[in-house]
Amino acid sequence: MKPVKVGLLGLGTVGTGVIRIVEGHQEDLSRQVGSPVVIEKVAVRSLDKKRNIEIESSKLTDNPWDVIRDPEIDIIVEVMGGVNETKTYILEALERGKHIVTANKDLMALYGSEIVAKAQEKQCDVFYEASVAGGIPIIRTLIEGFSSDRIMKIMGIVNGTTNYILTKMSLEGASYDDVLREAQQLGYAEADPTSDVEGLDAARKMTILGTLGFRTDIELKDVEVRGISSVTKEDIVHAKRLGYELKLLGIADREEEEVSISVQPTMVKSTHPIAAVNGVFNAVYVYGEAVGETMFYGAGAGEMPTATSIVADLIAVVKNLKLGVNGLKAIVPYKPKKLKSDDQ
Ligand code: HSE
Repeated sequence: MKPVKVGLLGLGTVGTGVIRIVEGHQEDLSRQVGSPVVIEKVAVRSLDKKRNIEIESSKLTDNPWDVIRDPEIDIIVEVMGGVNETKTYILEALERGKHIVTANKDLMALYGSEIVAKAQEKQCDVFYEASVAGGIPIIRTLIEGFSSDRIMKIMGIVNGTTNYILTKMSLEGASYDDVLREAQQLGYAEADPTSDVEGLDAARKMTILGTLGFRTDIELKDVEVRGISSVTKEDIVHAKRLGYELKLLGIADREEEEVSISVQPTMVKSTHPIAAVNGVFNAVYVYGEAVGETMFYGAGAGEMPTATSIVADLIAVVKNLKLGVNGLKAIVPYKPKKLKSDDQ
């Protein structure tokens, strides 16, 4: 049983979780895919940084190209974040026939189509379950679970940091700045938390969900965005008095072929299940023409929940490797590939 070799780009909160799960669940992983799965090389920002996990120093490099160019590596797991440089790494890895698992919502929201097209050209997998709603398998659910339905609405709390802040302000009367600092320490917030609090992170995630759910290419620039930086304790108290909770909601609606997507602080009736989603938890409500109302709930950020989705993607790639169907059975593309049979 030849081991499957994985290269990791990034060893922050989520990268650390990936190693913990791959090592901690190795026996179960190997049993599922029929061979050991090994983290072969890890690209880190600084070799000198103190880490929360023990890792052989021979596996570490501060040059991502060492990972991309390693011919032994079959799969790249990208958890370094960033857009332009990271896109270059991913496209080059695909060019070399490596499969990609990424948690990068910024990259997928902006360049998902281009990346998926390259993957198809090279018959590679690109999986990105962890890019939206951390540990909730919402991407697979939209693509596979609802493949039979016509989704009309996707609504939810898709940013853990802002929900954590709003919850603590609402339940404990905590101050915005203190809770934001706490969320950063817990590893929930983005490197630049402005994208959390100004709603951009949620907008990127809604772009991905809308694209997949409505089966059309949605552009980030079409999402109307307003964050929570101007929400005050008084707003929250006032909403509560009227029987509402204030939540940062992403709402994607479809009417006929018209799609509208927005992210904004919204008063949610306290009796609605979304009003009870507290802390770092996310929830995604999906309304399908046939299925009706559904809702999915779980931790939306943090080391282990996010790593769970990444390692699930990793297992999916390895299973495809064993079947020789990479790039064919992928978590389906943004723009479906034109099939030969379409011309006949
Ligand atoms: N900053 C993001 C959040 C991390 O708080 O939801 C997970 O995508």
